[in-house]
Amino acid sequence: MIPHEYIEELTRRTDITELIGSYVQLKRKGRLYGGLCPFHSEKSPSFYVYPDTQSFYCFGCGAGGDAITFTKKINSIDYPEAVKLLAARAGMPEPEEDDKTGRMRSRILSMNKEAARFFHACLNSTVEEARQARAYWRRRGLDDKTIVRFGLGYAPNDGQALYQFLRDKGYNQQELDASGLFKRSQSGRIYCLFWKRVMTPIFDLRGNIIAFGGRVLDDSKPKYVNSPETLVYHKSDTVFALQIAKKSASRRFVLCEGYMDVISMQQAGIDTAVCACGTALTPDQVKLISQYAEEVILSYDSDEAGQKATLRSLELFRNSPVKVGVLQIPGAKDPDEYIKKYGAERFKALLDGVGNALDFRLKRLRDKYDLSQDGQRLEYIKEAVDMLAERSNPTEQEVYAGRLAEETNVSKTAILTQLETAVKRAGYKRRQERSRARLKEGEMNQINVPYSMGGAEALGVASAQQRLLAAILREPGYLDLVRNQLPAEKFLLPQQRELYQAMIQCREQGIELSLATLRAYVSEEALNELSALAAKYSDVNCTPDDIRLYLDRIARGTPVAKKAAEMSNDQLEQYLQSMREKKQGNLPPEE
Ligand code: CTP
Ligand code: MN
Repeated sequence: MIPHEYIEELTRRTDITELIGSYVQLKRKGRLYGGLCPFHSEKSPSFYVYPDTQSFYCFGCGAGGDAITFTKKINSIDYPEAVKLLAARAGMPEPEEDDKTGRMRSRILSMNKEAARFFHACLNSTVEEARQARAYWRRRGLDDKTIVRFGLGYAPNDGQALYQFLRDKGYNQQELDASGLFKRSQSGRIYCLFWKRVMTPIFDLRGNIIAFGGRVLDDSKPKYVNSPETLVYHKSDTVFALQIAKKSASRRFVLCEGYMDVISMQQAGIDTAVCACGTALTPDQVKLISQYAEEVILSYDSDEAGQKATLRSLELFRNSPVKVGVLQIPGAKDPDEYIKKYGAERFKALLDGVGNALDFRLKRLRDKYDLSQDGQRLEYIKEAVDMLAERSNPTEQEVYAGRLAEETNVSKTAILTQLETAVKRAGYKRRQERSRARLKEGEMNQINVPYSMGGAEALGVASAQQRLLAAILREPGYLDLVRNQLPAEKFLLPQQRELYQAMIQCREQGIELSLATLRAYVSEEALNELSALAAKYSDVNCTPDDIRLYLDRIARGTPVAKKAAEMSNDQLEQYLQSMREKKQGNLPPEE
């Protein structure tokens, strides 16, 4: 990694207009510059350079980014080479590796390895508490092989032992602090985050130990304590046991809720069992799993929380190419308990007969109704038909209509007729919402907001969020105003949420906000998206009042028009004027 200070300096010393001007003939157009795009062939210019945001964007082919992206693309070279080239141009020495961070990272990894050895040794020691810990794992049905394979251990009652152990190994205080393994009491004493807990190390894909989860041996609370985020551990993109699953011959993964489920399944020979780490499943984890799996079976707890989590995860997988099934676990609260009660073979049989996502949704629906009552039966059919209309293809519709008919004692023909109407209605509704959205937010129709998020309304909110991102890139100071009022979760589109979070991270670490520095946190595609936004909203005048208006728009999720209705005539006139100016600013000016 190149240190951010270096990138900041490089950004200060590089003028994107000058840089691109040496490859492309640029013509000044107000605050921006236009020319023929060097990345696709065109006769009239749709390529623009924006000095304000130090970005470029082509409205023709969608290429966009900062000076580094441009250098990469135009010379077909990779990131480090592009940085070197720009550095030479700016008269800077070549970047040096950020030794400090790199070194700290490897120190934490080796500390974690030592800690895991320590915990494992504690588990095998002769003292009474170790015996209890061994008995605990045994009660959970784990054999020695599994304990060794997963590197399981025990954190002793003595919270200082690990601290002493690592100090003796030569780790200094700064390193110990960065490891996330220790806490300071109010009196300043340092002790281990984990004590009197059985320990499960968490590995990354290369087999490094990056964190731990520790469980109590009884029913006390909290049941689990997990490592905090560190230089080497990022919860939201870590999948437990993925380092094992990725090597499996099978591309069918089993995703469950807890470490214990995974370990039990793995012991039972299901080597593609994985789970998230102490959090709800995240989009990053879905992406990661999708890189290795062709099919994922959601195998969550059978309680209400588990079923809700299943629905949430189904949504997350909806846009991934992975095929998703849902396992229902009869007669046990989770896979771990099922395996213990009925054995591995029966669990595997359960896996083989797994239902698909639609089955799961329909079953959830059916459970809401008492099918012996006519009224409820009709209600169930109506809802089921609507669900099928929205979420299934014609073949599935045929199959499920048959099942629905059997279940409810209504003829299949009647159900199919009802389904046909529902399909038409769903299509009509989608089209209508789409055109309404277009009317409402003229240029906004390019935003792809899933309709499940609330159609036209969501478009307005997403638009306000995009404008905020563009405004912050231009005036990073606005971030302080915005972040107090707008939590990242409120962002509708994942990529924009990612950008926003990255902006906040930059700010928190005192890094100057620019496309170049954001690159350390987001993908090149996300940068491209941000340059597109910077281009689209380049002429929008962004005053603090505008920012507040966008925030308001997002907070209430209601049309800006409503705001206008509450204004005095003078305010309204002013506001409309500013909107008119913005409208003109949304497209690059004509030649
Ligand atoms: N979890 C957590 N903190 C808690 C409770 C749960 O981080 N206080 C996480 C853990 O990763 C746990 C997962 O959520 O593995 C599922 O929770 P739960 O079903 O309660 O745990 P199990 O794995 O089933 O644990 P056990 O069977 O040991 O009770
Ligand atoms: Mn459990």
